[in-house]
Amino acid sequence: MYDNMFSEDAGSFFRSPVREIFKRVDLNAIYSFAGGYPSAETFPLEDIRRTMSEVIEKYGSKAFQYGATQGVPELRQAVAKRYGVPVERVQITSSSQQGIDVCTRVLVNPGDVILTSSPSYLGALQSFRSYRADIRGVAHISDLEAFKEAYEEVIAQVKAEGKVVKFLYMIPDFQNPSGESLTLEERRMLVGLAQKHDFLIVEDSPYRELRYEGEHVPVMYSIDPDRVIHLGSFSKIFAPGFRLGWAIAHPEILDKIYVCKQSLDLCPPIFDQYVAAEFLESGRLDENLVRSIALYKGKRDLLLGLLERHMPAGVRWTRPEGGLFLFLTLPEGFEAVKFYDKALDAGVAYVAGEFFHPDGNGKNTMRLNFSFMSEDRIAEGVKLLAELLGKEI
Ligand SMILES: Cc1ncc(COP(=O)(O)O)c(C=O)c1O
Repeated sequence: MYDNMFSEDAGSFFRSPVREIFKRVDLNAIYSFAGGYPSAETFPLEDIRRTMSEVIEKYGSKAFQYGATQGVPELRQAVAKRYGVPVERVQITSSSQQGIDVCTRVLVNPGDVILTSSPSYLGALQSFRSYRADIRGVAHISDLEAFKEAYEEVIAQVKAEGKVVKFLYMIPDFQNPSGESLTLEERRMLVGLAQKHDFLIVEDSPYRELRYEGEHVPVMYSIDPDRVIHLGSFSKIFAPGFRLGWAIAHPEILDKIYVCKQSLDLCPPIFDQYVAAEFLESGRLDENLVRSIALYKGKRDLLLGLLERHMPAGVRWTRPEGGLFLFLTLPEGFEAVKFYDKALDAGVAYVAGEFFHPDGNGKNTMRLNFSFMSEDRIAEGVKLLAELLGKEI
């Protein structure tokens, strides 16, 4: 009855296969490597309770009123200070998913090209498709020259088709889903391509502060602050339920995002912003982050050790230096989507890597999350998954 009533944009929405998994099963009843949920242990309930009371004491009814579309000054200033950028370059978002969506909304016309890595974050692909963007994925190649060449080829192809690359979407730190990071040289090379071919970069980095080993690599934003829009999030360093993040960009770009957000949500949640600002400024966020990093490092190390011990020959995986995921590659011909029902029936869930590939590649890959389950359950889950794969490949 409603078929003729929906917009063309609504016709290009697609359901997240990850969220479909959540609907089918109770994640606590199975071994779930599927979602990207932080561990509930990292939510500092007592500190949050205390901070909430302090916010009500300090701001009273102001904490529950509408506020500025750019975000409350206290949080914008706290973010600006933390990341060493001018406050005029900070827009608070209702989480980085909204950051991705507003960037696409203000930059992309239907048919315009967005370059991404392949694989890339599913929520971003959903947003891009909803605006009917033409997504071109480029696989990572460890040789820098070959990697550059792969991008140049795609850009040349786009130009030959008379189309425009609007932006490159990148998750340079501990990527979702692969867990891999870009080197400084790779970041410079990609910024160089954006300068040469005149497109923007949307740098999405919600996992950046969850580093378990190695040195921090500078953000792409620092290489060219006028060409890169940097997106951050409180979801993985504080709690996703607050739905808060930030965009750092040239004021002219932020002004468009600001006007766009007026029609989207008027302002980010006020009470939550004050809580996040207090949490940051009081040092509680950093204290909690230290604990989260120790917890996740332990889980990552455990998972890597278990994979080494139990996975059958022919299975490879990434070794992330941070973040919440690693990526498994199975022998050619294995189909992770088909195998999924068998795994779920046996009580273990993952996300098939194919869903993250804009080009339909990656059929023999799967993403494993290591933040959500307890160490005991990770250990039992890996053994079960390895046993099932051993019978299949
Ligand atoms: C790469 C990436 N970007 C953005 C998001 C969205 O996070 P949020 O909207 O909670 O900030 C996620 C969530 O998993 C993600 O992995």
